Amino acid sequence: MSVFITLEGGDAAGKSTQAAALESWLVEQGRSVVRTREPGGTDLGVAVRELVLHRKGPVAPRAEALLYAADRAHHVATVVRPALERGDVVVQDRYLDSSTAYQGAGRVLDADEVRRLSLWAVEGLLPDLTVLIDLDPRVGRQRRSDRTAYDRLEAEQDDFHDRVRAAFLDLAAGEPDRFLVVDGELPAGQVQAAIREAVRPLLRR
Ligand code: TYD
Repeated sequence: MSVFITLEGGDAAGKSTQAAALESWLVEQGRSVVRTREPGGTDLGVAVRELVLHRKGPVAPRAEALLYAADRAHHVATVVRPALERGDVVVQDRYLDSSTAYQGAGRVLDADEVRRLSLWAVEGLLPDLTVLIDLDPRVGRQRRSDRTAYDRLEAEQDDFHDRVRAAFLDLAAGEPDRFLVVDGELPAGQVQAAIREAVRPLLRR
């Protein structure tokens, strides 16, 4: 049985570390795993990622939303759906909840419209489980303080990241069956243990 797991949260919440650890554990369980990410999980996506994250100068909010949605449409059609059809487990760093939170609450577009745009892009594909690693953006900023280059979204002010965080928590509260919320300040091992506990029942279906 295929399983589609996404990880969400602010920058530096530890998503990629957790995704890598989850992948290793799933492989130990004998599962085929595709670990991927948005934006940038395909060759087209790498180009979109460059445009949307590293372009000098502004990108209109609706253009930004459409670029993420375009990346997502291509990624789901060419990577995610084929993997799920093979019965693989897909572990994905960011998905449509990121657009609802960043472009909706962050850029102040209508969150329902942004979500509908993504749902159209992916023909309604929702994850079986979404892990929200919740972290105060100030803690995230400190964790990254050794990194010099910020992308266009990371460079936004604290109030932008506070709105994004609140939007993620609202999404999780609205769909408690799909979401697991984990405290991103916990040690990485404890975060991973909570994730595995939520994933285990999905492997038995
Ligand atoms: P990510 O790859 O997690 O960044 P990093 O490589 O710094 O860990 O995500 C890139 C940025 O894109 C991140 O700031 C969040 C943003 N983003 C959106 O605004 N909307 C989206 O739909 C997605 C997928 C990401």
